Amino acid sequence: MHVPTLIEKKREGKTLTDEEISHLISGFTSGEIADYQMSAWAMAVLFQGMTPAETHHLTRAMMESGRVLEYPDGTPPKVDKHSTGGGGDKISLVLAPLLACDEVWVPMICGRGLGITGGTLDKLESIPGFNIQIDERRALAQLESIGLFVIGQTEDICPADRKLYALRDVTGTIPSQPLIVASIMSKKLAENLDRLVLDVKFGRGAFMKTHKEAKQLAAAMTKVGKLMGVKVSHLLSPMDEPLGRTVGNALEVAECVEVLQGNGPADVVDLVLDLAQQVSTVSRAKLAGWLSDGTAWRKFISLVYAQDGDASSLEKITEVHRAPIIRPLLAPSAGIVKKMDAEIIGQASLLLGSGRQTVDDEIDFAAGLSGIRKIGERVEAKEPLLFVHARTDQALELVLPLLQSAVEVS
Ligand code: URA
Repeated sequence: MHVPTLIEKKREGKTLTDEEISHLISGFTSGEIADYQMSAWAMAVLFQGMTPAETHHLTRAMMESGRVLEYPDGTPPKVDKHSTGGGGDKISLVLAPLLACDEVWVPMICGRGLGITGGTLDKLESIPGFNIQIDERRALAQLESIGLFVIGQTEDICPADRKLYALRDVTGTIPSQPLIVASIMSKKLAENLDRLVLDVKFGRGAFMKTHKEAKQLAAAMTKVGKLMGVKVSHLLSPMDEPLGRTVGNALEVAECVEVLQGNGPADVVDLVLDLAQQVSTVSRAKLAGWLSDGTAWRKFISLVYAQDGDASSLEKITEVHRAPIIRPLLAPSAGIVKKMDAEIIGQASLLLGSGRQTVDDEIDFAAGLSGIRKIGERVEAKEPLLFVHARTDQALELVLPLLQSAVEVS
């Protein structure tokens, strides 16, 4: 096939066949199709879009560019969730062990944080020793023994997406719905799931700024999942303020420990249960019971041990990673919290060192924000609205004005 003709065909808004899409993806993955040609094609897709059938074939071709997990016959249903991410989104750390208390397997492959969105892998790596790179044989044995694993994307899962995402990142072609759908779904479908729940976020701190955009993305992902034989459901959840009361890796792990021990902020608990209910076979009451009676907490401890982590550090994780400077941001006056901007708080946390500005940056596990007050809560004058965890005075001075602009009390 003649690649320039395929690029032109998409440029003119025509529909590509399955074979043409497969040719582009396999040629790009093997290196036969040059980056500049694939970039031009991605830009054509960004402007012209793709039909649902094209998006489906693109997802399949990307999934099939690498390994798809295989399981022995007669094993329990495989379930997972995907979130489009946002400030303080720590849900996977609680949801994965909670789901694994049910008669299902949770083969969770997840990503690192980039930009203002944190990543499950970074949070897990704040637990001393936690190994996110166990091989497939060990991961499958772990499913047999405890019903879950949480690992990073391996070299041979969706190599086409790894290459294409890196290219999109530097060619202005990230915000294309079909490319986003294929990128997210190819990775999740490589887990060979029976059921998948999507948490599609909208609002200030989310990838999708409006409810309408989130709904369209959710519908497109659901359609592809169904075409590929997976039962997909979704929730649209707001991301105007951070989830829970913490942003930053070790601080978020500490908050998850609270939730797994039957406490923790209501918004985190509710969202965990809302999502779990979509893919679990047991009732919400049973799931809530597993959070409050220690069953999910024990499952989390077995996950940490199984992946070489030091579970004895979990209840003191904020001492293991403690920022030298912890300062409150005080309420300027008494009143109701009207704004706690998730985007600005995410940026502040990033500047404090809790995330990466480039893929090679080192993460500061101790950095971030805690004690974040929720929109609608009453505060008195000079009461803390949140606590900043900073490594240096310079970092603190950098984020304070930002944080002041993130908050409104009246
Ligand atoms: N997350 C992904 O994995 N891919 C995208 O294209 C966007 C968000």
